[in-house]
Amino acid sequence: EEVLSASKDMAGQRVLITAGGTREAIDPVRYITNRSSGKMGYALAQEALRRGAQVTLVTTPTGLDLPAGVEAVMVESAEEMRQAVLERFERVDVVVKAAAVADYRPLMQQEQKLKKKTDHLLLELVKNPDILAELGQKKNRQVLVGFAAETNDLETYALDKLRRKNLDLMVANDVTQPGAGFGKDTNIVTIFNRQGEKEQLDLMSKAELARRIFDKVIEILSARV
Ligand code: CTP
Ligand code: CA
Repeated sequence: EEVLSASKDMAGQRVLITAGGTREAIDPVRYITNRSSGKMGYALAQEALRRGAQVTLVTTPTGLDLPAGVEAVMVESAEEMRQAVLERFERVDVVVKAAAVADYRPLMQQEQKLKKKTDHLLLELVKNPDILAELGQKKNRQVLVGFAAETNDLETYALDKLRRKNLDLMVANDVTQPGAGFGKDTNIVTIFNRQGEKEQLDLMSKAELARRIFDKVIEILSARV
């Protein structure tokens, strides 16, 4: 069955996927992060490999097993992820940004461990660069896929991000729905394209969702030639 269904329809395609939540250092022993598990990004990498693509996975430490055959690039902060992605962008055909990039990082990274002294401690944060928006500016032929996790006004925010970041596809999930969002093996998403069309998908495994996403990527690639 696998033999019949495993058409290598992404053979020759170079795919870059980002996964996991970035870690923004406070001092040598502490960092700020988010609830991203990396599961969606790893499922995407697995699926692209299965379809014959050459896959680079830029990932934060997640504890997940790397899919066999993937080129892994380990990063921690948003800035490291940005460098790793920008270095490789010119050489890839498809980018899927499943990573949860921290929007802010501590302004100061203390070289020594912060000691407990005062009753109150204010941590000043500064905005991180938006990696996906930068790719959207730079892209020539690359198919760009973004993710959005929203708690409200999903369609408005998802479409705004799709346009603002010059994406080809936006995969949006409402994280308030049980079965969707961080840490789970399943997801419930709506996928938007540049034409403003949307497809609302039912609850499915992240593996199945990865298949649906690359089906759409292939459609976009094949409509171009
Ligand atoms: N993203 C990125 N770099 C950032 C922030 C986000 O590349 N500094 C990418 C994410 O990987 C994701 C997409 O942008 O594919 C949308 O992320 P999201 O957090 O939903 O959107 P933001 O633009 O950060 O807006 P907000 O968090 O305010 O909703
Ligand atoms: Ca964000």
